[in-house]
Amino acid sequence: MAANPKEVVRENTVHSYKTLMDVSWNFDYEAGVPKIEDLYKRAKDNQWNADHLKWETPIDPSNPIIAPDHSMYYKMPFFKKLSTVQQETFGAHSTAQLLSQFLHGEQGALLTAATIAHGVPDVKAKYYAATQAMDEARHVEVYERYVKKIAIDYPMTPWLKQLIDATLTTENYMKVMIGMNMIVEGLALGAFNNMYKQTDEPLLKSITFNVMRDESRHVSFGHIFLTPIIAKMHQDEREELAQFAYDAVMILVKGQTAIDPGFLQVLAVSGIDAQDFAKGMEEANALGITRELPPGQIHSLKDLMMPALVRAGLVTKRTRELFEKSGVPVDADQTILNRMEDQKSDMNVLNAAGAKY
Ligand SMILES: [Fe+2]
Ligand SMILES: [Fe+2]
Repeated sequence: MAANPKEVVRENTVHSYKTLMDVSWNFDYEAGVPKIEDLYKRAKDNQWNADHLKWETPIDPSNPIIAPDHSMYYKMPFFKKLSTVQQETFGAHSTAQLLSQFLHGEQGALLTAATIAHGVPDVKAKYYAATQAMDEARHVEVYERYVKKIAIDYPMTPWLKQLIDATLTTENYMKVMIGMNMIVEGLALGAFNNMYKQTDEPLLKSITFNVMRDESRHVSFGHIFLTPIIAKMHQDEREELAQFAYDAVMILVKGQTAIDPGFLQVLAVSGIDAQDFAKGMEEANALGITRELPPGQIHSLKDLMMPALVRAGLVTKRTRELFEKSGVPVDADQTILNRMEDQKSDMNVLNAAGAKY
């Protein structure tokens, strides 16, 4: 079971704790899942250098990163009544807060990818995990550079930290893959897709597209490697992994409905009363404004995470009931998941976005 991390906070920026992860050497260098070798080859072929993106692109401060017609908030009657300054401040800070979560989440992904490299027994999967660690380092780099460029940064949302810590403190590489490659990366791939669709800012668009191409491989890794192992597992072992998946999803579900201190900060900076905002959201919900996602946007939990867990055999009869009792629909439609996992044909979109790779 998950360790109770002994927390040591060094200065203000370093957070360290001990974990119980099993480490594996493997001297059978020939063995390996052929599809993982393919994925490793794709990962090597698709490495890119963040220095080659157009960092000199000026960000026009009069042009919001997410245009009002792509934002749900601008459709809310409450929001329309705010002053232009409040609307613009909210737009800039809420986008910056989201981008800071991309940055911190990517650091979590870097840590988990490195953990998988030392925990997974299969040598070829170690190779692949090493490429993922490099991918994630690059993702931390690009979002760090972008956040610095917009000069507004926010701390990590507590539930996202809790979810990644729960993943990092397991003893078992399979749980790390479930927590990261199926759950957190499902969340990330959905969020990146939505950002890509919402923004017309060329630098962020090119960053996000490059990152999405890498993430689509990371989500595939969890599936290709783990699904056949889970299929052969004893039911008790599978139940343990299914319980871990359920607990991890519930951290996310509960976190997303809790009050986020970073978002309160966004409201405060924008001069918006948090209770007024909550009432405005209730009104928008009642009017159905927040129910439907804008065209092309993805619901991470419904479209990516739950289908990935179902596909891997990680939703058992028992945990299906738990999900349903918790109000989380167990969706098995894998259409969007399958589309998001294979973006090789989207290179033309990358070119159109002006990215160098
Ligand atoms: Fe990433
Ligand atoms: Fe990733």
